[in-house]
Amino acid sequence: MAKVYVTRSIYPEALELLQRGHDVKVWEEDRTVPRDVLLREVADAEAVLTLLTEKVDDEFLDAAPHLKIVANMAVGFDNIDVAVCTRRKVVVTNTPGVLTETTADFAFSLLMAAARFVVPGMEYVRNGKWTTWSPNLFVGRDVHHATLGIVGLGRIGQEMAKRGRGFDMDILYYDVYRREDLEREHGWRYADMDTLLSESDFVTVHVDLNDQTRRMFSVDAFSKMKKTAILINAARGPIVDTDALYEAVKSGEIGGAGLDVTDPEPLPADHPILTLENVVVCPHIASASLQTRTKMTILAAENIVAVLAGDRPKTPVNPELVGG
Ligand code: GLV
Repeated sequence: MAKVYVTRSIYPEALELLQRGHDVKVWEEDRTVPRDVLLREVADAEAVLTLLTEKVDDEFLDAAPHLKIVANMAVGFDNIDVAVCTRRKVVVTNTPGVLTETTADFAFSLLMAAARFVVPGMEYVRNGKWTTWSPNLFVGRDVHHATLGIVGLGRIGQEMAKRGRGFDMDILYYDVYRREDLEREHGWRYADMDTLLSESDFVTVHVDLNDQTRRMFSVDAFSKMKKTAILINAARGPIVDTDALYEAVKSGEIGGAGLDVTDPEPLPADHPILTLENVVVCPHIASASLQTRTKMTILAAENIVAVLAGDRPKTPVNPELVGG
């Protein structure tokens, strides 16, 4: 029986799928599997179900000579050196599609929370500071009819645009691929990056992390944004320069931020950005609904079952290895 190593406890439906005909071993602790344990465990594994916390690189692949598939339980796969996997004929899969709307829901809730002081409002009540109604208390910015600038009009970016439309927002987008079909269909407008930055009340990032997008948001981008603009990042932490963001919000260069991802991640509890009332930070939970996390693990498990059976996985990242 092929050994499958799973780097965290997963939903039972997915585990049952894997257990049919495979020898499955799971890292049961709710913390990242230590690297030495991981490298030891993959020595005889033909498949690994990874999370975005596991780095899959040359060292990992050296330790896993029998590996046929790395099934990442995430749509992003910047934790995996795909070129190296392809060279070594290891299939890589991710979990696109199943988390699109859930992630956009959460990104939009970060936008709302940051615009309207939801989190400091709660803290204020919890800390017994609520003594009277005040016309000046936690006065935020309107979301409805504001301009939403979407950087990256992929699946999640498009869902974000639809949510913005529901709030009568004007939708601008920047992407390396222009989508005139969507512009015609929905009235979304393409803008170059500088125009998007200067015209948007909310800028939301939905690009992959790669060499072009790393630190795409730093001093220069912040200097082009409106002083009141709020930046939302539910993509990957290193797309935004956290220290520069702290300075930009603190100095009033921009209005605030809603982050589900940070750099570093986890963000240390004493990071100064956490002292800012107009910044909301969550611990990388945008896809965390029970339904979506279940679908993500099932999709990752199905990809493993397919590759071990010699079939094409549903969502390959390096399709050149699996044909079709
Ligand atoms: C989560 O961040 C994912 O990429 O699915």
